[in-house]
Amino acid sequence: MKRTIANAIEVRPLDAALGAEVRCGDLRQLSDGQFGEIRRAWLDHLVLIFRGQSLSGDELLALGTRFGKLDDTPRPQPADQPGQHRQQMALSIVSNVIENGKPIGALSNVDLVWHTDMSYIEVPPDASILHALEVPAAGGETGFCNMYRALETLPPTLRARLNGVSIKHDATHNSGGFLRKGFEPPADVTRSPGPSHPAVRTHPETGCDTLYLGRRPYSHVQGLPVVDSEALLDQLWSHAARPEFAWYHDWAVGDVVIWDNRCTMHRRNAFDNAARRIMHRTQIKGTRPYADAPQHQQPSHPRGLRFGATL
Ligand code: SIN
Repeated sequence: MKRTIANAIEVRPLDAALGAEVRCGDLRQLSDGQFGEIRRAWLDHLVLIFRGQSLSGDELLALGTRFGKLDDTPRPQPADQPGQHRQQMALSIVSNVIENGKPIGALSNVDLVWHTDMSYIEVPPDASILHALEVPAAGGETGFCNMYRALETLPPTLRARLNGVSIKHDATHNSGGFLRKGFEPPADVTRSPGPSHPAVRTHPETGCDTLYLGRRPYSHVQGLPVVDSEALLDQLWSHAARPEFAWYHDWAVGDVVIWDNRCTMHRRNAFDNAARRIMHRTQIKGTRPYADAPQHQQPSHPRGLRFGATL
């Protein structure tokens, strides 16, 4: 059901597991009151889409600062792929376009696997924002999935196995499957680099628990032999990646999408490399993932399903 709130902001929840389209006019002109409503909608719907925007790089960063502190730490990145160069991180470019023999941005045109942004560092970003400047006629859609719902619908025996469990998030490869610069391919996932985060994390703003998987390749359930860790991760991933938890955004020029990295994962479909896709991107600093004690009764998220419910 669509909701029109103060100051002519309209929040239209998508008919999907997550996401809402927000109609609010020019994102550069929002009052603090309007922005407060947008932040509430973001926490409720996990991913927000704003259409028809035209933001310069600086204006996108200004929008980002309304969500929190910009994550401007340089990260090991586009250099992951041959010929790519390093960029300052507050504003980055996601693109397959090559100019003067060099990629202008990261991630090329390839399929990106399900992942949560930068869960391979100790304090991953809360939010990421993409603004579409050029898009291909087909392909390049970005999928998002609802990790509150993934957690709340786990079979109870599987859910119980996650109490107190941490997962090591691989730092060696990016979401396109490329080895990051300066890393070796992991010979043993129990010893490879990457931080451990709780498999179930408590969202610091909603207070709801969510499944926190990061990305599948090279991850490891701490304390388990590799064979058992792989079996548990396979079970979790086949559940979390169910199509009914996901929604795909088909981009148009001018779209701005912001997602919550604490309770969603995302992936991208490949697209024809002869087409151009240029996105401006920024991200918002986060806080260290934590889990409330399992006996603590967590609220169910409005876009989740109560624990143990069947689909
Ligand atoms: C990303 O994974 O941050 C990029 C998503 C996209 O290119 O759609």
